[in-house]
Amino acid sequence: MAQTAREFIGERAIEALRRPALDEARGLPAALYTSHEFFDLEQHRLFPRTWTGIAFDTDVPAPGDAVPLTVCGLPVILVRDRGGEVRVLHNVCRHRATIVLERPARGLSTFKCPYHGWVYGTDGSLKATPFWDGTADSHKCPVDAAGNGLVPVRSGVWNHVVFVNLDGRAEPLETWLAPMAVELDHLDVQGLEIGHRLDWTFKANWKLVMENWEVYHHVWVHEGVFDKMSDEVDPATGEIYTDMIADGNVMMLRYTKNRPPPALRSVNGPELPPVPVRYEKTEPTGAANAVLPNTTVTIGAAAYAPAIYVPIAPGLTEARMAWYFASGAATGETFETSREAVLDRWLGPTRSFGDRQGIRPQDHRCMELQQAARSSLVADDVKFSATWEANVRYFQDWVVTRIDA
Ligand code: FES
Repeated sequence: MAQTAREFIGERAIEALRRPALDEARGLPAALYTSHEFFDLEQHRLFPRTWTGIAFDTDVPAPGDAVPLTVCGLPVILVRDRGGEVRVLHNVCRHRATIVLERPARGLSTFKCPYHGWVYGTDGSLKATPFWDGTADSHKCPVDAAGNGLVPVRSGVWNHVVFVNLDGRAEPLETWLAPMAVELDHLDVQGLEIGHRLDWTFKANWKLVMENWEVYHHVWVHEGVFDKMSDEVDPATGEIYTDMIADGNVMMLRYTKNRPPPALRSVNGPELPPVPVRYEKTEPTGAANAVLPNTTVTIGAAAYAPAIYVPIAPGLTEARMAWYFASGAATGETFETSREAVLDRWLGPTRSFGDRQGIRPQDHRCMELQQAARSSLVADDVKFSATWEANVRYFQDWVVTRIDA
């Protein structure tokens, strides 16, 4: 079994990926999207060493709210402790390693292991080991309480996204996503309120999401939003109206001042209040952004829509997405029509994904088509447009480099 990406891919494919001239380079071989061996390599050597998005702080809105999750196959608990702090804990009892929290819960005072009743605080601290020494005093806790709490996972919250670093050795979260933090610093994103949440799965490898961080596909895929190529590029000069930026662990699509506004569906409700600013910024701001490896951060004038992509299998990914709006506009009837129009644009009017309407189902349809094609014997000759697809090669190289670091 390969221990490195280089070993799995082979020298020739690495050389082809890194050719200086982008249009002479070749993309990652299809096996990196279909192989269980490479999937395991990512799960063990990529994700645990990164800051991986897992959920949203609004998934646990009140003290004592908790959700069991799986990260790289490891069971964890996302909890807002009684003091209001969002934490991530290994969901493993310190007695004989049993899952402690089996299903989402609200307003817990403690966690209680279902096997022998050990009790933990919502901060993970060990509170009781009933009858450990045969006596009825469940609060005596004769084992070392300080050393036997639920083990914390290194975690952090940025703009409502909960990130974890499983191996505990990545640079600080603020450093990991620094270019993105700078880009959005003027916006009060954390002050926005949750308006909608949706989880779904699609039949494609998680990497194909990040390889979608270009605007070449917009006109062909997102009918009704991006209608003509002249919205993306000046056909006479070749000037592209979007800066497609890759910087460290961040990728951004920043529309330039020369870009015509994209077509928007008419909104028949009252205008949504804008995302509040902390200070004025005159330069354009990245609209569709990604924090590698698996989190996307899209922000418009009135809505913030982060998404987390969780690899389930080589050809299966779970999407967790949330929509946030300005205070007072996220719930209630006043702005309901306008919020629905935003969600229609993202998800289509049925929210079913079956009719392939809305930006996300449209994207995911193409990812599923890419995934299906990767079972072919002729899918290894992937090319990049030097004009449009530098980000795609950047991300593929980022994956290989990170695994082998
Ligand atoms: S395994 Fe949890 S209390 Fe025994």
